[in-house]
Amino acid sequence: MDRMMNIALPKGRLGEKVYQRLKAAGYPCPSIEEENRRLIFENPEAGVRYFWVKPSDVAIYVERGAADVGVAGKDILLEYSPDVYELADLGLGKCRMCVAARREFRDRPDRVLRVATKFPQIAARYYGSLSRDIDIIKLNGSIEIAPILGLSDVIVDIVETGKTLLENGLEPRETIVPISARLIANKVSYKFKHQQIAELCGRVEA
Ligand code: PRP
Repeated sequence: MDRMMNIALPKGRLGEKVYQRLKAAGYPCPSIEEENRRLIFENPEAGVRYFWVKPSDVAIYVERGAADVGVAGKDILLEYSPDVYELADLGLGKCRMCVAARREFRDRPDRVLRVATKFPQIAARYYGSLSRDIDIIKLNGSIEIAPILGLSDVIVDIVETGKTLLENGLEPRETIVPISARLIANKVSYKFKHQQIAELCGRVEA
């Protein structure tokens, strides 16, 4: 079996921070710090192979065992419910899942609420818990535009600083759940590479 630990990192700003945390924890990989467009990097001395994947794909790689461990946002874990172990909250990438609307919007509870979101499962569960009928409009990005153009009444989306909402004339109305980056592991890897994974988990948490 491959003795290296395969680690899926979310491409982007969060991933850079996660790599710095792993580096500080004793899993450096000099080649990943070079300016280039490669996606796979390894450091046999540290026993790690890193790869950059789209943040929403990290859990897929880990669930199917192409990666032993990875770092994914709690938003992705709640939305897709991948069959993986969630080992640790890294406290990075903190933000919250919110309902937001135009400042003028007044909800009419007797009407079906039109909700635009990248997270239909999270939205459905939230409004289900309130016994509220909704019409979900699944989008893939720039969700804030939907209420402005009358495509939806509200959005369910990630809010970090609140700047995107503010600059688009929207305001947060309810917080659904706080979000942060989580260390996740493949269930089979967790058994067969237990020592390595447990050690990595302990070191990045510390
Ligand atoms: C996320 C989210 C908001 C923005 C919130 O967008 O969907 O648009 O960040 O950040 P803020 O509160 O600090 O302004 P992302 O960059 O992931 O792009 P996308 O949703 O358009 O794909």
